[in-house]
Amino acid sequence: MSQIGQRVLVVGGSSGMGEAGVRALAACGARVVMADRKKAPDDLGAERVLEIDIGDDTRISSVVSEAGEILGGLDAVWNNAGVCHVGTLESMELDAFELSFALNVRANALLARAALPLLRQAGGGSLLFTASAASIMVAEGSLPYIVSKSALLTMTRQLALEYARDNIRVNALCPGWVDTPFNAPAWEMFGGRESFLQKVPELVPLHRMGTVEEFGAIVRFILSADARFMTGQAVVVDGGESLIKGPTR
Ligand SMILES: NC(=O)c1ccc[n+]([C@@H]2O[C@H](COP(=O)([O-])OP(=O)(O)OC[C@H]3O[C@@H](n4cnc5c(N)ncnc54)[C@H](O)[C@@H]3O)[C@@H](O)[C@H]2O)c1
Repeated sequence: MSQIGQRVLVVGGSSGMGEAGVRALAACGARVVMADRKKAPDDLGAERVLEIDIGDDTRISSVVSEAGEILGGLDAVWNNAGVCHVGTLESMELDAFELSFALNVRANALLARAALPLLRQAGGGSLLFTASAASIMVAEGSLPYIVSKSALLTMTRQLALEYARDNIRVNALCPGWVDTPFNAPAWEMFGGRESFLQKVPELVPLHRMGTVEEFGAIVRFILSADARFMTGQAVVVDGGESLIKGPTR
């Protein structure tokens, strides 16, 4: 792993894409501190595992400073944790917008704000947010999720513009369907996991869901110096789903 991204804080790496990302980063020599609300696998490869609920503002800033102390600075921060509230304008829970924006937008903003001084101290670095292919599409039945993940992508672009002067790159990972427990609420919209699986070939031109390992490799690239000219981007990895639904921007 080349210089950018050597000392990395990953939030939400106890399972799924976050876990695969930590493993991919550690395998190429990055030093990783991982924070999650759930216990991490023992063989994850992170230098230290911290506890966090990203809904807790105070904990966000203390985790960033603890990670900075453990690693002697920070070159990159990736937040993979998010929340999925589904429903239409009329069927969604009344607090679905507040909950979605609190975790999918506000927590990312607070994490970035806490990390900026450390990234500046390192002479620049990288912020990565897990947004979604839903950030560039519209789809029925997922209003709070889509609106909050679109806002996260807009924030990514905004921060990329504002902090390029500090040599800080800001990008959004935008996955399509990936086989992780995160999708349970979305699968319910299709009548459960089994009926969803039957629909996959219709929904995804490459006829399958993504694997977490595929995302580990992409995250490793985005945080590496090989991607040093890339900022403000929606890195859409969706098996072609957005080609069918059509990007909204
Ligand atoms: N799986 C998909 O198909 C898909 C598609 C698009 C976007 N995403 C995005 O990917 C992210 C989820 O990753 P995944 O699919 O690998 O799921 P996952 O559930 O396997 O992993 C998410 C990790 O985040 C942690 N987490 C969740 N809420 C947290 C909180 N409040 N505080 C601290 N940690 C928390 C979980 O414990 C878990 O370890 C979300 O941001 C989601 O919007 C997923």
